[in-house]
Amino acid sequence: MTLAPGLVTPGMIDPSVRLPHLELPVDLRGKTVLDVGAWDGFFSFEAERRGAARVLATDSFSWSGEGWGRKACFELAREVLGSRVEDRQIGVLELGPERVGRFDLVLFLNVLYHMPHPLLALERVASVTAGTLILETHLNLTDVATPAIAFYPDGEMWGDKTTYCGPNLPALLGMLKFVGFDQVRVVSMSSPTWLRARALALHAAKGIPMQETLRQKWAVVHAWCGARTDARA
Ligand SMILES: C[S@@+](CC[C@H](N)C(=O)[O-])C[C@H]1O[C@@H](n2cnc3c(N)ncnc32)[C@H](O)[C@@H]1O
Repeated sequence: MTLAPGLVTPGMIDPSVRLPHLELPVDLRGKTVLDVGAWDGFFSFEAERRGAARVLATDSFSWSGEGWGRKACFELAREVLGSRVEDRQIGVLELGPERVGRFDLVLFLNVLYHMPHPLLALERVASVTAGTLILETHLNLTDVATPAIAFYPDGEMWGDKTTYCGPNLPALLGMLKFVGFDQVRVVSMSSPTWLRARALALHAAKGIPMQETLRQKWAVVHAWCGARTDARA
């Protein structure tokens, strides 16, 4: 994360490379934004930088210090950036309009696959979305036409015991519709070149068979509940 010109944190990945794929609205002036599973807050701070009137970053697991992170990185970035992004330590399944309110734009980026109850999670996310949802997730079973969700009860995916599910695209779109997002746009899918490079890397590093990883993809979708109130408008 770039905190100042020439001052870049030594993170695992550079989240800025994902921005073009997300199609995050360029102008968020006056909008309220909820970043669910914000972790170090890159996308929360980016929404603020794009003019959002209010940004609430929420997380639980990586802020609790029990897993792969702590909240200290988010807090340090907020301080150095002089940011007014608000924070709330709250799990996805605890979200609701009575707890956090409803937002013009909700970011749910790379969190769905951490959910053992993905449909319930999407129901909670829908309940706090007044406008647009931007969702990014891992997909699996992409060669299956029937809506289907791969379930990883014990760290089967990447050896990561916090990853529980990989829907295919029909299941993802079906779940979004089921929880009330009546308009959905698939904004981007991972490129075949990137997927092949990833499959090769995971095979080399962890011995994961390529026929497994090549069934997986990454997708970004935008979704709207009721009448479309596109945050880009
Ligand atoms: C892969 S990281 C994604 C971080 C960020 N949204 C991004 O796209 O770079 C997943 C995040 O989801 C959070 N998370 C996992 N389970 C959660 C839960 N039940 N409630 C809230 N956050 C959760 C983790 O703590 C972590 O910060």
